[in-house]
Amino acid sequence: MEKDEKITNLKQELESDIKKISNQQELQHLKVKYLGKKGLITELTSNMKELTPEERKQLGQIVNELKNYAITLIETKQQEIETRILNEKLEKETIDISLPSKKNIRGSRHPFNRIVEDVEDFFVSMGYDVVDGPELETDENCFQRLNVPLGHPARDSQDTFYIDEEYLLRTQTSSVQARTMKKNSEKTPIRMICPGKVYRRDDDATHSHQFGQVEGLVIDKNISLADLKGTLELFAKKMLGENTKVRFRPSFFPFTEPSVEVDVSCFKCSGKGCPLCKQTGWIEVLGAGMVHPNVLRMGGYDPEVWTGFAFGTGLDRFAMFRYAIPDIRYLYTNDIRFLEQFDRKDEENEIK
Ligand code: DAH
Repeated sequence: MEKDEKITNLKQELESDIKKISNQQELQHLKVKYLGKKGLITELTSNMKELTPEERKQLGQIVNELKNYAITLIETKQQEIETRILNEKLEKETIDISLPSKKNIRGSRHPFNRIVEDVEDFFVSMGYDVVDGPELETDENCFQRLNVPLGHPARDSQDTFYIDEEYLLRTQTSSVQARTMKKNSEKTPIRMICPGKVYRRDDDATHSHQFGQVEGLVIDKNISLADLKGTLELFAKKMLGENTKVRFRPSFFPFTEPSVEVDVSCFKCSGKGCPLCKQTGWIEVLGAGMVHPNVLRMGGYDPEVWTGFAFGTGLDRFAMFRYAIPDIRYLYTNDIRFLEQFDRKDEENEIK
């Protein structure tokens, strides 16, 4: 009887102890207290030897039951603690979806590059190649092979950054005309444009020391001024709108003969006269002409067999017209506040 009472008390003690457990460490202590080598439950069997086999069997059974009961309680508690820890962790890690999301910074195409791509699209659709040339150029390609020998007065308007006697930063993409003719060793027809940067000693609201030009060169048999006119008329309409009118004025360039300057009707006032066109109704946009026989000869083309036309135009002005940019230097200062204005959605409003 005494034994039974002891067991009942032990069971009650275990139950009340386990209720107080709140963490793994305490549970470990409890396990040792009851089930360890000298634990309270283990100890119940310490005087087994003194008992009769019958009593031994009975006690063994009771102690085993109690042991299993203790194990079940401990395991349940163990699970309880683990679940609680996991829940606490999950609670801490929940994502607060009310936080504002990170701003996605989206770039846009530079207004200058938009113009370059439009020019390229137009000429590629007409079967032209887009070629590249170096900005650090030789005097020979930039001037001499274009019929501008040393000391020629036409050099004055194109003062530039000279590296030494031979090398300079190119003043005009026309240098690529000389390169293309020289490179084409088979002397086959040429249809190319070359957009790129050029450099001059200039710095005001409409002139920058660096600006963009696109050069065009066509060489074939039976090319005439009519081909030049038709091509540039289409080009002007593509860049400035279908209603654009084009005017050709006689001019002078050392590398073309005859030479023309090309004006377009002012797209702002439709030719009526406004501050942009200085009340003339016209804006000058292009230089062009029939390739000079000397230039053809220096490029290895016989001028008795081949003819061609060339043109060159500033790209920045088209960007300034299209986006109403008042100062060319904004295009090159990389000021993010300026560039941010040219969001992608503006492209829908461009004159096409
Ligand atoms: N290179 C000239 C300039 O920078 C522009 C030009 C005029 C290019 C007539 C040409 C041309 O190819 O035929 O002012």
